[in-house]
Amino acid sequence: MIYKKAPIVSLQGQPVLLFNEQTTLLNALESKAVDVFSECRSGFCGACKTKINSGEVSYIHEPLASLEEGECLPCCCKPQSDLDLDIPHGRLEESSKKAD
Ligand code: FES
Repeated sequence: MIYKKAPIVSLQGQPVLLFNEQTTLLNALESKAVDVFSECRSGFCGACKTKINSGEVSYIHEPLASLEEGECLPCCCKPQSDLDLDIPHGRLEESSKKAD
């Protein structure tokens, strides 16, 4: 049996989660208190559009919002490999502070 390693998701080089869930990238990021702006949460509006620094994603269903090269819609995709997103890691720290 071939075991596929769970992808590591990083924010500008800072690892934040191991993606081993049956959910979207957006839900996984939110579970780690990473603030990603979203509206429709189903690939229509493009509000969650995020730049990928490295790595690949696959779509759970084909998104309707248009994407440029190197962008993804976290609300309807999953990482296919280790993934580095262009989201400042500081947002995570700010969110953590609020929880204190
Ligand atoms: S939240 Fe609308 S496309 Fe992701």
